[in-house]
Amino acid sequence: MSMMSIGSEEEEELRRRKLDEALEVKSLRRIISAYLNYPEASEEDVKRYELSFQKLPLSHKALLSHLPQKFQQLRWCISENSVFIFQMLQAFDPPLNMSQDIDICEHEKLKTTNKHYGEKDARSCQSEEKSHHHSIDEAKSVDEKDVARRLPEVKENKLNVTGINGESLSVDDAGGSCVKNMQQEFSSSPDWLDPSLQSHVPMVDVDKVRCIIRNIVRDWAPEGKIERDQCYKPILEELESQFPNRSAGSPPSCLVPGAGLGRLALEISCLGFVCQGNEFSYYMMICSSYILNYTQVAGEWTIYPWIHSNCNALSDRDQLRPVSMPDIHPASAGITEGFSMCGGDFVEVYKDPSQAGTWDAVVTCFFIDTAHNIVEYIEIISKLLKDGGVWINLGPLLYHFADMYGQEDEMSVELSLEEVKRVAFHYGFELEKEKTIEATYTTNPRSMMQNRYFAAFWTMRKKASRVAVETQATT
Ligand SMILES: C[S@@+](CC[C@H](N)C(=O)[O-])C[C@H]1O[C@@H](n2cnc3c(N)ncnc32)[C@H](O)[C@@H]1O
Repeated sequence: MSMMSIGSEEEEELRRRKLDEALEVKSLRRIISAYLNYPEASEEDVKRYELSFQKLPLSHKALLSHLPQKFQQLRWCISENSVFIFQMLQAFDPPLNMSQDIDICEHEKLKTTNKHYGEKDARSCQSEEKSHHHSIDEAKSVDEKDVARRLPEVKENKLNVTGINGESLSVDDAGGSCVKNMQQEFSSSPDWLDPSLQSHVPMVDVDKVRCIIRNIVRDWAPEGKIERDQCYKPILEELESQFPNRSAGSPPSCLVPGAGLGRLALEISCLGFVCQGNEFSYYMMICSSYILNYTQVAGEWTIYPWIHSNCNALSDRDQLRPVSMPDIHPASAGITEGFSMCGGDFVEVYKDPSQAGTWDAVVTCFFIDTAHNIVEYIEIISKLLKDGGVWINLGPLLYHFADMYGQEDEMSVELSLEEVKRVAFHYGFELEKEKTIEATYTTNPRSMMQNRYFAAFWTMRKKASRVAVETQATT
């Protein structure tokens, strides 16, 4: 190969990396914009309710005369949620240079290896009111391992608890002025939090922020215990029974792909595993990092997760009820050394040959159906596990990309449960346990509508490979 072509290959690689980083910054800015936009988008909703109320005939208005007060209460709840969101953003340390100029058009002509980079939809939260599913934006990285290194990690039995500013913000009756107050209070915020840099926030991103609020309840609020008992408890019990003789000196390792807001990974760590959660949504990572690393006491924050829907509420009181969180203080929960959250796409990070045969257990909870190609997920899970390692799965098969019609680059392989198991057997798994578990996902426990899954639960063991068996036999 000539020196010239080596030089141009390097240049090409450099350009590609720059483009990937620029796309990642763009994606992260979009996510931050969506979080910043939370109060305004919510205020828009309240204004709509007010407009409808205004249109009522006088007699109906008189009958519903309490509604204006409810609207003001909604505004107050929105401002309380906004305080949490703003504090969370303030604590976030972007793993990228957010002030860089992005000139993506110039680079876009380049072929990139990472065609899924940037904005992508994978559902992460199911709306109770509609049967469609909200989507979560995934920020995918150029070099996922690099991002994994740069994203906040929870390490060595310490949760890196850092004090937050803890401002108690004045809460105004009018949502709009409350937002301004907050922005003034946070005047020392980094440039990338400057609200004037906010881009237009599409409705789909507004929904994603609301999904995160519901995920907070699932993972970190006392009322999420119902769901955690349905989904996490059977997994934790199974891990305990699979690894009865865990020793503190040499704890087994467990990987949790698609870890969401990190509660399951934390619980597994507390059971005595070296646990790593993997997650590629910056929406999720920003929030889990804040709760895991910045919580000072249990019940530190109060949010109002259910205010964004007027549908299926038994009463206004139910809709406006406060939820305190987190239910535990993560730093004193008793984690095992080595607990970490790793940012990046599961496929990109864990297909790396260095990961092969390194994990004692892989736990997937409401995750395997996030795949474009579920066969690839199963193949990687099998490779990651040591011989004799276990894969515990709980979840439905609500393929997240199933309705991505017309998007050229998107693929979605949708298999039945029977086929999924057949693929797993092909990759060396043996089924040890199997049952169906009824579970909800980010559902308001007091709603008149409860979407219930009959989720598949299984424990599969990776058979010893033939080479390993033969080696054992000869020694
Ligand atoms: C339905 S949620 C489940 C979250 C969590 N396991 C729970 O039970 O609450 C699926 C999660 O997987 C994440 N995810 C989707 N595809 C992923 C991928 N390729 N790599 C890593 N995380 C992914 C999503 O961002 C989301 O947080």
